[in-house]
Amino acid sequence: MTMGQSAGGGPEVLDGRDQASISKAAGILKNGGLVAFPTETVYGLGADGLSKNAVEKIYEAKGRPKTNPLILHVADVEAAAPLVADWPNMAQELADKYWPGPLTIVLQASGLVPDIVRAGNPTVALRSPAHPVALDLLRTFDGPLAAPSANRATELSPTKSEHVVKALGGAVGLVLDGGPTRAGIESTIISLAETPPRVLRLGPISIPELEETLGPVAVFSGAVERGAMQAAPGMSTRHYAPKAQLSVHELGELLEILGTLARQGRGGIAAIFLGDDISVPAELHKCVVKKLPGDPVGAMAGIYATLHDLDSIGCQRVLIQEPPQSAEWLAIRDRLFRAASKE
Ligand code: TXA
Ligand code: MG
Repeated sequence: MTMGQSAGGGPEVLDGRDQASISKAAGILKNGGLVAFPTETVYGLGADGLSKNAVEKIYEAKGRPKTNPLILHVADVEAAAPLVADWPNMAQELADKYWPGPLTIVLQASGLVPDIVRAGNPTVALRSPAHPVALDLLRTFDGPLAAPSANRATELSPTKSEHVVKALGGAVGLVLDGGPTRAGIESTIISLAETPPRVLRLGPISIPELEETLGPVAVFSGAVERGAMQAAPGMSTRHYAPKAQLSVHELGELLEILGTLARQGRGGIAAIFLGDDISVPAELHKCVVKKLPGDPVGAMAGIYATLHDLDSIGCQRVLIQEPPQSAEWLAIRDRLFRAASKE
């Protein structure tokens, strides 16, 4: 990763582990500007979460509809408390277990949270990210940061600083680099503003893990059915999409389609397999073949970066092996079916 001012009006990229970079970033944020920063899930596009004008710039930079609310990032529970009308025991238990970490908690907002952050909803989404650069920035800035994923709306989320630079260019002035993100997909979102609590977005913290703390939870309908998704407000079905056309197939079907495409001599085709034990037939030598780890945590960590790579080499069509239906794979299934959706 090259640090410093990039040529051609792109953002400045600085090493987020450097204290001077953090101070500079906090200064930009205090002045109502935007800074992209790493979290353990994906890179975020941050602005002062209590400033309407600053948050406005996020929507503009992303091309995001104003109906889609933002997550407020906080350093810890103490910083979260003033932002909610009430901090229930369930929230404390979740925070004790998973914060800082990839869990976003939705609660009734306090009067401090600007309307634009909530997209007019009475609730606010809160998360404390488990990344030293993000936490350092939050402590230095000393306030909540509104931060969606640092990509254009509906596109693939960034897991490396270069993905942010590519997606947003000069729309963001400064990107703090913190290396590739560890978890690889966006946080799990749980709403405690409903009874029973409801999972609004699947993510690195699984449903069984949440149920250990909360008892039975509801899940947004159509969680992982093909073509039947609904979720958090403003979350369209098509989301997290690479430039290439993506489709998801059970292994046998995948090999069959690849074989047909290869025999037709088609170029620009890529295949992504789960696990190392699949031997790819020689006739498929024309395809780009990628292998993700066969376990859900490993696959999650690598999926977006792999799709970014395939986009950057200009693949037109990407076929990916369908993950199993079990609970630990649900979040990846959700992302893949959304990315493959045409709506
Ligand atoms: O891992 C993550 O959560 C990343 C990193 C940067 O923290 N952030 C992220 O933000 O994925 P974004 O804006 O790309 O996705 C936030 C989701 C949206 O689907 C939005 O609808 C939902 O959170 N959300 C935000 N506020 C909400 C609220 N008050 N009620 C329900 N859903 C909400
Ligand atoms: Mg996003």
